[in-house]
Amino acid sequence: MQLKSFLTVATCSISVMLSACNNEGSSSVTQNNQDEKLKLQPIVIQGALPVESEQMASKLDQVSTETIGGWKFWKGTYQGYPVIISKTRMGMSNSAAATAIAIERYKPIAIINQGTSGGHDPKLNVYDIVLGKYATNIGAFKTPSKPVGAGSDALQWHEAFDVLPADETDPEPIAIRKFEADPALLAAAHQVQPLYKQGKVIEGTIGSADVWNNELDRIQFFYQNYGTSVEEMEAASVAQIASQFNVPFLGIRVVSNNITNGGAYDGATGEACQEFVLNVATAYMKQRLKTN
Ligand code: 5AD
Repeated sequence: MQLKSFLTVATCSISVMLSACNNEGSSSVTQNNQDEKLKLQPIVIQGALPVESEQMASKLDQVSTETIGGWKFWKGTYQGYPVIISKTRMGMSNSAAATAIAIERYKPIAIINQGTSGGHDPKLNVYDIVLGKYATNIGAFKTPSKPVGAGSDALQWHEAFDVLPADETDPEPIAIRKFEADPALLAAAHQVQPLYKQGKVIEGTIGSADVWNNELDRIQFFYQNYGTSVEEMEAASVAQIASQFNVPFLGIRVVSNNITNGGAYDGATGEACQEFVLNVATAYMKQRLKTN
């Protein structure tokens, strides 16, 4: 073999070997990365209704389902990270039960409660997203005393009832309790905020109760006295349970209706929110992987 062709063959062989080595190297790096991700405890993402949970569930890989009592959970991975989607059903009791079950069963690294909501802030349009810096119960009160026949006026209910008082010996704890978002979850949401193109993303207070308010004076009362941006039926309840288990929590709500500015109900907002929240979850898990 002439020297020139020998060199060509040798160079090729070396480069083939190198590229094989590199490929092997990168796939084992990928595998290690996958294994690392799966060492994390799962993040739980909740939605009350099928339209607020099934789209996320359909995006999981290696998915299996588990139904406990009336509550459905999809377990799988999203971009390699362990994720559990939970359909809580509507309201404070359902979401509290789904949260307690999820925490006991899956020991989650964090919980995100997300879904649709009604605007209290007239500056919020349908499709805008509220990151719940705070979540608060807007259905717990001590009412003024009135005799039979004196009627009832919810606008005079000025004493909020704190159902989770520090002092459990006080039978009538009066306070507006606000559950604060986990800072790392909130930071992850801000990090992916630019990816959301269908509306603005702001920090605010989410008000929760088993009530759908359609009285504009009542809505204004909450907006002024509780500082609520939106109302819905689950976030504060989930926050209350998560806080007692010390599990990091964030509520994320898309405005699906806003009667303070004529914003008509749009159910498709639920899908937009789910897409955004999967990005938040991924950003959070990525960060946790770095800091673990
Ligand atoms: N008031 C109360 N709950 C609302 N939801 C959406 N909009 C509103 C609103 N204006 C959410 C609740 C519940 C379901 C009725 O939809 O969280 O799950």
